[in-house]
Amino acid sequence: MSAGALRRAAGEEAVVRYVRDGMRLGLGTGSTASAMIEALAARLADGRLHGVCGVPTSEATAALCRRLAVPLTTLAETPQLDVVIDGADEIDPELDLIKGLGGAHLREKVVASAGRAMVVVADESKLVAQLGERAPLAVEVVEFALPVCERALRGLGWEPTRRLTAEGTPFVTDEGNAILDCRRDDWAGAPALAAAVKAVPGVVEHGFFLGMAAAAVVGTSGGVRVLERGSRPAAVP
Ligand code: A5P
Repeated sequence: MSAGALRRAAGEEAVVRYVRDGMRLGLGTGSTASAMIEALAARLADGRLHGVCGVPTSEATAALCRRLAVPLTTLAETPQLDVVIDGADEIDPELDLIKGLGGAHLREKVVASAGRAMVVVADESKLVAQLGERAPLAVEVVEFALPVCERALRGLGWEPTRRLTAEGTPFVTDEGNAILDCRRDDWAGAPALAAAVKAVPGVVEHGFFLGMAAAAVVGTSGGVRVLERGSRPAAVP
């Protein structure tokens, strides 16, 4: 199966398993979250689901929802969400995540924090033994602070590179900030790494999502696997 097919299977299963009539959702960003939104839209259109609305985690996701007639809401109108379903760039065995290759991790983390539960959707290529195996840590910084943040992050052992668009211009997030993609050899101790990055003045948010996901719905060549944090059932409604 192609990665696209695995992502569609994961998105579909997440909607079937976790979304119920009347729920207020957080709607993630990226190709797998988009597949989930397409599955959601299909169920809203044919009446299998009713009364669902969602807070989008990016302008791209908002545009997709408008196109597919998925009702949108805002955190001002709906500050508490039932389930947040989002993609990830890496998922470790504890369901700790790296996100941000799509550049939306600031809004994604805010929306995830507003949810009673966060469910991750992904294909099996996102499963890693340790965070940092493949993805850089995306660090969103305010433009004014960029040189100071780069220096401070180097001091913390990271190798930051400013993210560019495909056209070679500086990437700008939905909040108008820059992103530094940060690499390092030793990723041991993610909580301490995350705290040190967050403490740098000018850093708005980073792509570590630690202790946030309750479950991961993963498309694999052997079928869709549902992974839940610890041995207890995921704290989903
Ligand atoms: C967006 O900022 C990211 O956190 C995405 O959730 C991530 O890049 C996953 O995207 P795909 O599902 O397209 O891999």
